[in-house]
Amino acid sequence: MKIILVGASGTLGKAIIAELGSRHDIIRAGRSGADVQVDIKDLGSVTAMYKKVESVDAVICAAGNVSFGPLAEFTPEQYAVGLNDKLMGQVNLVLAGQHVMNDRGSFTLISGVLSHDPIVMGSSAAMVNAAIDAFVLATAIELPRGMRINSVSPTVFVEEAEHYGAFFRGYKPVPVNDAARAFAKSVEGAQTGQTYRVL
Ligand SMILES: NC(=O)c1ccc[n+]([C@@H]2O[C@H](COP(=O)([O-])OP(=O)(O)OC[C@H]3O[C@@H](n4cnc5c(N)ncnc54)[C@H](OP(=O)(O)O)[C@@H]3O)[C@@H](O)[C@H]2O)c1
Repeated sequence: MKIILVGASGTLGKAIIAELGSRHDIIRAGRSGADVQVDIKDLGSVTAMYKKVESVDAVICAAGNVSFGPLAEFTPEQYAVGLNDKLMGQVNLVLAGQHVMNDRGSFTLISGVLSHDPIVMGSSAAMVNAAIDAFVLATAIELPRGMRINSVSPTVFVEEAEHYGAFFRGYKPVPVNDAARAFAKSVEGAQTGQTYRVL
């Protein structure tokens, strides 16, 4: 399969390449240093990416920024980071991709544990992750030509525990490879409308 992987240079993206790279043709996408440049916040940039990479069988997103901070001090601008980047960025991939994806192609988006198991300072991430999972549920029944869509919702990665561990006390981190396997299940399997929780 020809697969666009957005966020290929990140912790999760590299693990997805390790999982899928030997079986498929992976086109690495990101804002810098990738096979194809894209900023998912910008629908024009996403459309241009699809024009450059023709005949796509799957799109995987392993990218998306959100702000963290205490509710008492949070601003609309901080919420806008998550809404414009992690949420609408992934929605942009589907909006533009639905018209150019090959028949029976798939989208696999990234959400996360905070939608259903929140932490202090995580209100934006929780909101965005829940919206992504709801978007997947709803669009699965509308996508034409046998196209599928799923999301992967991991808890914190072992590889990131050093950075984020203090915010996730009591959470059991998962190896990022476990999350990568859920992407393989989505891309290489037949399910749609699913959120794969990797806990
Ligand atoms: N880390 C965790 O423990 C964890 C747990 C659950 C869920 N997640 C979610 O998993 C996703 C990836 O996390 P990660 O830890 O792998 O992040 P990461 O290491 O910071 O990598 C992020 C990747 O996304 C690309 N990127 C960022 N913003 C982009 C944009 N607007 N357009 C296109 N590409 C963009 C980056 O490349 P460029 O900078 O070159 O664009 C990079 O390749 C995030 O959505 C995160 O919320 C992470």
